[in-house]
Order: sequence, then C-alpha cells, then structure tokens
Amino acid sequence: MCGIVGYVGPRNAPPIILDGLGRLEYRGYDSAGLAVWAHGALVVRRDVGKLANLRQRVEASPVTGQVGIGHTRWATHGAPAERNAHPHLSMDGEFVVVHNGIVENYRELRDELTSEGVRFDSDTDTEVIVQLIARFAQDGAHGDVTEATRRAVSLLRGAHAIVVLSRSQPDRLVATRIGNAGGVALGLGDGETFIASDIPAIIEQTRRMVFLESHQLATLTAGGCSIQTLDGVPVSPNVQTIGWDPVSAARGEYSHFMEKEIFEQARSITDTIRGRVDFERGEVTLPGLHLSPEEARSIRRIVTVACGTSYYSALVGKFFIEQLARLNVEVDYASEFRYRNPILEPGDTVLAITQSGETVDTLAAMDEARGKGARLWSIVNAIGSQAMRVSDGFITMNAGPEIGVASTKAFTASIVAQYLLALYLAQRRGTLTEAERRAHTHDLARLPDLVGQTLERLPELTPLAAQFHTATNFLYLGRGLNYPIALEGALKLKEISYIHAEGYPAGEMKHGPIALLDEHMPVLAIALQDAVYDKMISQIEQAKARGATVIALATDGDEFIRAKADYVIAIPAVPPLLAPVLAVLPLQMLAYAIAVRRGADVDQPRNLAKSVTVE
Ligand code: AGP
Repeated sequence: MCGIVGYVGPRNAPPIILDGLGRLEYRGYDSAGLAVWAHGALVVRRDVGKLANLRQRVEASPVTGQVGIGHTRWATHGAPAERNAHPHLSMDGEFVVVHNGIVENYRELRDELTSEGVRFDSDTDTEVIVQLIARFAQDGAHGDVTEATRRAVSLLRGAHAIVVLSRSQPDRLVATRIGNAGGVALGLGDGETFIASDIPAIIEQTRRMVFLESHQLATLTAGGCSIQTLDGVPVSPNVQTIGWDPVSAARGEYSHFMEKEIFEQARSITDTIRGRVDFERGEVTLPGLHLSPEEARSIRRIVTVACGTSYYSALVGKFFIEQLARLNVEVDYASEFRYRNPILEPGDTVLAITQSGETVDTLAAMDEARGKGARLWSIVNAIGSQAMRVSDGFITMNAGPEIGVASTKAFTASIVAQYLLALYLAQRRGTLTEAERRAHTHDLARLPDLVGQTLERLPELTPLAAQFHTATNFLYLGRGLNYPIALEGALKLKEISYIHAEGYPAGEMKHGPIALLDEHMPVLAIALQDAVYDKMISQIEQAKARGATVIALATDGDEFIRAKADYVIAIPAVPPLLAPVLAVLPLQMLAYAIAVRRGADVDQPRNLAKSVTVE
C-alpha cells in the first residue's frame, strides 16, 4: 500500500513530509522518496528499504524548500529499487509526481511516449503519468499544471491517487483521485496546506480536512484549496474536523483494527493479485520465486509448514496445488515438523506460510528444511522479515500491515497467493491447457467483487452474534476445501471471545464428536452448493435430531436449506476452488461481533501475541 504526503506553506517541507510518511509506515512499503522545489529546481531524494534510509540521505544531502511531496512505495510494476522509487521527474525536469494505484494501460502509453522521443528512467507505470503531464503542459495546457494534469489523467485506465509539483508554478500542488486506489485527504492549516493518502499522516498538523472524491482534481496553495471535477465543474470543498486521536485515526471509522482489516479484504486481495496476472493469456508471473520451467518440472513434492491461521491457509493451498499443478503437497504444523526429523529428498520444496515472517516455530522448520537440502520458499506479509530473507524464493501477500492479533486479511491473502502459485506451477508444468488457465484467472478476476459483495452483508450478522454470545461451546463443521475454513472459524471465535470452539471434518462426526451434540452445543455447518452439499445437509439433520442449534453457511438462492437449519448465512455463488475466501468472511465477522458483545479486547486478546517469536 503506497503512502503519499505533500506540503505547501511557510515552513521547510522535508521534515513535515518525513514525519507524515513515518505515520504511514503501518501501510508497508519497500522504498521511499521526496521532492522539493528548491531555488528554482525540483530536487529529488529517494532510497530503497526503510524510511530511515531516506532520512539519512536527506541529512547527508540536505534540501530545503516550502513546497514538496513524498511517497512510500509498495512495488507493483518494477522491482523495489532507487530508480523505481517515487517521486518521478519528467524528462524536461518541469514536473514531479507521486502516485498510488496501477496504470492498467501503461504499456501502450509508454510505447506512444517513447515514439515521441521520451526517454524513461524507471520500470514503473507511474513514470508515464509525469511524462504525459509534461507533454500536455507544452501542448494545450500552456504550462498550467492543473490543466496539464487533467488532460493526462483523462488518458489513464485504472484507479489512481496522484500528486503533482511543477517547477514553474512552485506555489501549488495538484492532486487527483480516480476510483479506489487509496484516499486523498487535504489538510487545511493556518496559512499552509497538506495532502496525505491517510488521516494519520497529517492529523498532528491539522484536523480540518477535505476528502477528495473520485474524478476530482484539487489545486492547493498555502492559502487553501480549490476543487473541481475532472471535466472542470467547480466543487465546493466539504471541510470536516477530525476528532480522532492518532491511533484511532489509523483505525479510521472502525472500532477495532480487526474490524478494519476484515473490511479491507476486497482491496487487500486486489493487491495480492495486482501485477501478477495476465488475464488475457491466463498467465501468472511470480518473479520472487526465481524458478525456471525445468526447475518447476523437477519439483517432486511440496511440504508446507506453518502455524495457527497460516496452517489452515496451507490446508486450503494443498487443494489448489494438487488439483491445478498435480503436485503432491504435504502440510505440517511447523512446531511438529521441526522435531520429527522429516524425510526430505531431492526435488522436495518446503513452503513456509507466515504473515509476520518471524514465527519462531516456522523459522525453525525452515532451518530444518535448509539443513536437509530442500529448496525453501515462503509466502509472507511482512516485507524484509526473517522468513523472507532466508528463503530461496518468496511470494509477498501484499495485504498491508495486519495490526489485529487475530489474522483476517493475511489469511485470505495467503490463500490467494497459493492459488497464484498453483496456477504458476501448472503453467510451467503444463498441467493445464491455456483455456483452463484463462478460466481460472477469470475466476480470480471476479474474486475481489465477490468479496466486496459478501463484506457488504456482514453487518447483518450482528443479531446472530447477540443470539450466541453467551455460548460456552461451539462446533464448526466443513468438508473438503471448507474443512480448513471450519478450523479457522473456530480459531477466530476461540482467540478473541474465549469461547471454546472446535473445527471438525463433518465426515468425522459419527466417529465420536456426535456424542457432544445437544441443545448446549451450537453447530455452524458450511454447506455451500458444491460436491459435498448433500452430505452436509444430512450432517445438519443429524445435529438437529440431537437438539443442537444449527447455523448454516449457504449459497445465495438455496431455499431448501432454510427448512433444515435454524439460521442461514448466505454468500454469493462462487467458483468452488475460491469458495474458502468467501466462506471465511462471515466466520471472521461472527467471531468479531460475539467478542465485541462479550466486551473482549478484540485487537489484543489475552495471552496472545501478533507474532509468536519466543518458544
Ligand atoms: C491467527 O489469528 C493467530 N494470530 C495465530 O494463529 C497466527 O496465525 C500464528 O501465530 C502464525 O502467525 P504467522 O502467520 O505470522 O506465522
């Protein structure tokens, strides 16, 4: 998730920009930079890695000026490198830009500009924006940065948040927003103005803010801001006063980070997919794995190791890789794998899944695998974490920092990352036809929208939570791909509401656990309309026959199940392989709502840590 900060006013801009970027670090990034108008020129300072590297660069080579923009970049197009860090300067040195989002048609725009003689310095899509602005400034906009920006942005496809600084109009910044590529907050101070992609970056500077809406263009000067629509219609700024303290500012309008992260999942899943799929050709690229086709064909087996929620994600990924890439996958708790002297042979690849990248059992399992000569991959969320550093190849979840101890968006991101891995391996191992690959990537393209539809319904679960917040036990049942979701749903309830809950393969009920069923044991059964639907219906009937109250997680339009279960939570119809991503969302929300109802400390549950870095 990229971060943007800008300043116009009487004070020196770099310290204000660096402070603001520091308050956006929770969004995650892999490089940072700033640009300042200084004595008639646009001066840029950029660096890879942590913000501290940029601070050192600015200290080593100070720059002062009263107008500037800054950016923390989460790489999409173009590897994390100084030349790809923002801000990007136009070839004529007249404009500099920072950007959040993806220019979906950047390839054709880059080719067009190259044919006009533009020379590109980076691999990013962002650079086409600043070169277009420079082109329009000379051709039609008569040097005006607002008009040049408007014309340039009208050619872009995709969602964007963009801020522009001009060498010849150094008293202003221009900001625009298209779609949902992160917000653009305009801060109105006393004789100074600020821009930020999120409230926390500038809330200490001013609490008076205007939030740009999609297809709006703002021009900021020290005296204030003027706003218009992209087609030039003036908009009167809706100035709001933000009452939040900085920490709750990071939560936005949500009561807990966990709630915020549940509702971020349409965007975080989009970020997991972004830049990795060619939907026309049905091809997936995962450059972080450094894998040649012949190496892909030589893989004999994948052993996945993880803990907690990440382990349940691995159980889902097993289905993807075995069904799509026809590769055997063994999944093990990292804490078990590390002590069982595992048998690893040439051709084995060990895949670690870890949100934090610092879980001690997972790192130890990776050491064990390394010691036995296996290739080591990891799927991680925390950029630069230990797991990422020791891996031969990695896939980043790109879910953005996950603050709530109970994992939500990282879980769905790691599932999607394994779906990408399965397609990537299938492509290189030739186990899917091009048509099959296109069908699967088409399913993936629909996923963020299906997630969004499901998230919109979650507030309807609050009454259900009220109904069950006094339960002392809960049983979650699922089959096949949704058995791991039953496990994850139970873990969510356990860890934040402290209600004992157990996830079980529904087919195992008759082998013992059915003895538990009575009116004190609510059952949540995942009964989507898939290959095991009839089995799940009979499971529900068996539970009802023993007096249990049953909540069914069902598919939209399934009226039959309504006569079987006491309560029904419906989700949109979804391609079976991707059903786990939708099915988990109501379970996350149910656990959250029950925990809130019980007055539990949702973001920091008792006895738990976000990352278990000690034995
Ligand atoms: C999940 O809600 C828990 N916080 C916990 O099970 C977590 O998934 C586990 O500790 C693994 O963490 P990791 O993904 O950072 O390795």
